[in-house]
Amino acid sequence: MSNQQLTYSPFDPKVIADPYPVYRELRDNAPAYWSPDASSWVLSRYDGVSAALTDPATYSSASGIFPTPPGVDMTELFLPMLIMSDTPRHTQLRHLVSKAFTPRRIAGLEAGIHTLVDDLLDQAPESGPWDFVSGFAGPLPAIVIADMLGVPREDRDQFRTWSTTLIQSNPTRGEFGPGLDAAAALYEYFAAFLTERRAQPRDDLMTALVHAEVDGEHLSEDELLGFCLLLLVAGHETTTNLLSNSAVILAQHPDSRRQLADNPHLVPTAVEELLRYDSPVQGLARTLTRHLDLHGQRMKADDTVLLLFGSANRDDHAFPNADHFDINRHPERQVAFGRGIHFCLGASLARLEARIALQALLARRRDWDVDLDSALRLRSGPIRGYSSLALQ
Ligand code: HEM
Repeated sequence: MSNQQLTYSPFDPKVIADPYPVYRELRDNAPAYWSPDASSWVLSRYDGVSAALTDPATYSSASGIFPTPPGVDMTELFLPMLIMSDTPRHTQLRHLVSKAFTPRRIAGLEAGIHTLVDDLLDQAPESGPWDFVSGFAGPLPAIVIADMLGVPREDRDQFRTWSTTLIQSNPTRGEFGPGLDAAAALYEYFAAFLTERRAQPRDDLMTALVHAEVDGEHLSEDELLGFCLLLLVAGHETTTNLLSNSAVILAQHPDSRRQLADNPHLVPTAVEELLRYDSPVQGLARTLTRHLDLHGQRMKADDTVLLLFGSANRDDHAFPNADHFDINRHPERQVAFGRGIHFCLGASLARLEARIALQALLARRRDWDVDLDSALRLRSGPIRGYSSLALQ
């Protein structure tokens, strides 16, 4: 099949429902594909995605990480963010914020996450449908990141609404309005807390950011607000969808689910396979700093390239029989958290939350079904998951 016959857009509702058949076509027939709808080249093979992630000098993040129409610079629409920066600024910012994500600090969150998970599971109905997203997968990571940042837990519904609006806006169609309004609301929300932290420091991430220094200079107000937005959105939308996707996959694989319920120590490896099999972040973009000839295509400097993590993770060359879900697989090479300099800062936190959440869920319910007819998919290009999902 030629590039012309194949059509792929990350925003196509059919792709959002099930992207895996078209990913296979892309990998087999058009490993460097031009998507008119996304105004981007699309890389879908494991080797291509992995090579791009580890070559930030060619594949820049500084013009944004979502496909945008020609002439639109995402970084002009949002305040500066670590994830949308290149070296040397990236190295400085990453060093600074890494201090808050040390293994010791993350391990210190474990007891609190156990309590939170138990509280949420206690509130699940004894019988009948349970909205897994609003009752469990949504609040858990939202509360964890709210506590880390130091914002009130009670505000979680509000900031969840803002961040869900943000990830569902489709920048390739110029649908910036609702997403930008949500970002503006989040900036305003955080600004008040930052002012408060300057006056009254506390033992939280926001205070640490306010007082942090890079080469003797504090972060600007815009950089601080950008950080808060990134941590809030990256810190919970992704983990929420890892949990929701996991609930569906385990419902569809009852033998694996029972094996995990009987052997909770297998859950951490299963989490890696769940991340690989249905990656919460399906793809993010880069901008080329020079021209490249790849798979017979000439890609020009300044072109946008979408790196499909979700497809790389289903590449048979990297994971034999990749469409098969196998909790005994040990997929160490999976790229659901990216790779290279932008490797997910919150990966160990997300793994910890997922392990505790799934072990506790499996300890209470050996069996469950999901009602996919009534489930609502997130209408997001980059993020794969559900906005509502009934479990029973
Ligand atoms: C299952 C959950 C998660 C997934 C699948 C995920 C995925 C990713 C991916 C793919 C990247 C790479 C971005 C790129 O290469 O452009 C990334 C970066 C990042 N993630 Fe996560 N993430 C998750 C959870 C979290 C959590 C819990 C936090 C914070 C509390 C977080 C914070 C970040 C930050 C700050 C970056 C930017 C790092 C940088 O640019 O150096 N993520 N994440």
